[in-house]
Amino acid sequence: LNTLGCGAFSKVKLVKDGEGNKFAMKIMKSDSKKSKEQEDNVFMNEVEVMKDLDHPHLLKLIDYSTKAEALRPDGTKLKLKYLTLEYAEAGELFDYIAETGVFPESHARYFYHQLISALEHMHAKGFKHRDLKPENILFDKDFNLKLADFGFATTEDISDSRKGTYGYMAPEVIANNAYRGEEADLFASAVILFILVTQHPPFIRAEEDDRYYSKVFKGQWNKFWDVHSDMDISENFIDLFTKMVSVDPKDRLTLEQVKAHPWFNGTLPTPEEIKEDFLKRQKVLKNVLKRKGKENENTENAQKPKPAKKKKIPMKYTKFYEVEDADLMVDTVVKCAQHLGIKYDKSKEYFRVELKAQKDKSEVHMLVNILKKPENNMRCLEFVKISGDLADFESVFKKFRSYCGRKFE
Ligand code: ADE
Repeated sequence: LNTLGCGAFSKVKLVKDGEGNKFAMKIMKSDSKKSKEQEDNVFMNEVEVMKDLDHPHLLKLIDYSTKAEALRPDGTKLKLKYLTLEYAEAGELFDYIAETGVFPESHARYFYHQLISALEHMHAKGFKHRDLKPENILFDKDFNLKLADFGFATTEDISDSRKGTYGYMAPEVIANNAYRGEEADLFASAVILFILVTQHPPFIRAEEDDRYYSKVFKGQWNKFWDVHSDMDISENFIDLFTKMVSVDPKDRLTLEQVKAHPWFNGTLPTPEEIKEDFLKRQKVLKNVLKRKGKENENTENAQKPKPAKKKKIPMKYTKFYEVEDADLMVDTVVKCAQHLGIKYDKSKEYFRVELKAQKDKSEVHMLVNILKKPENNMRCLEFVKISGDLADFESVFKKFRSYCGRKFE
């Protein structure tokens, strides 16, 4: 049937058994950087981890094969490895956040309970996930969270190889220090929680040079939260997040402490309320995909000859320029906003401009951050969507890119 997702080294297809039950088949692609033996080890690692796990919020392994064969169009045979997985019909958390906006804190809490219970189970069994991110969080037909993708999971108590995805990596992982997978998982879970309630990441990377995380490094929490002062977030949420992303893992809350925190113990919606909210979000998501002329990959369509590749929907664009002067870049962004008649608000303290562009009946709200690459003098303009239609966001970004390009290139 159709393609559900495409990763760097795998493709996920929707499949049906003889009785019509649906499953997701993760088919491994060959990685030219790895030997056949390394590839087998990575595959068997994922299999072994999944075989040992059984929890309502961890995606289940149904079956696997290392010796499957597929027929190429020219009649030759291709050797394949695949995993048959539980089908998470409602798709990825990433798409819901990108296209349907923030989650109220109580709804975010509902899913965070499910994520923490999944992590608690994994950690109790000695496994660390090491690649938590919204793309690896799926939902089943009843909108229950299913943590997926155990390709980086390990039983090592102390890891020394950098694993994960930059935006979600703890500072000790980015710094290439030895780290504990449990602590790295909890750090990533806090970043996901932040994205759930604000629709944007708390920082680009948890390192000293990061425009936002540098405030954490210096303990300047007021400054960190000032940047996010336009967000409607509770004091308890601020307290929890602050205590989960400290630079030193010893200063962070443990999983038990997270569970005991007042934010974690706040009010919860009922599963019916979650379902009602998600059904609305699904309608929005389907309309957006239809408008873009794309199939909704999570609906069945056997006739479609060539399924569209799963494309990540960006909430963020970055453009690099050989410019040293950040003030000049801020001024140029402001001039462009004036030129295009877009409402803007220039931050006094940060190299950052907030834009509110009116497009037809809707408004796109976005931030333009001027960032510095630590390794050279390059500056980059980062456009982050806060709310509004993604196609409108792309069109505003393109206008700025063209205007700023003329000034800097
Ligand atoms: N995308 C990736 N894995 C999936 C799964 N198991 N179910 C639905 N969509 C997916």
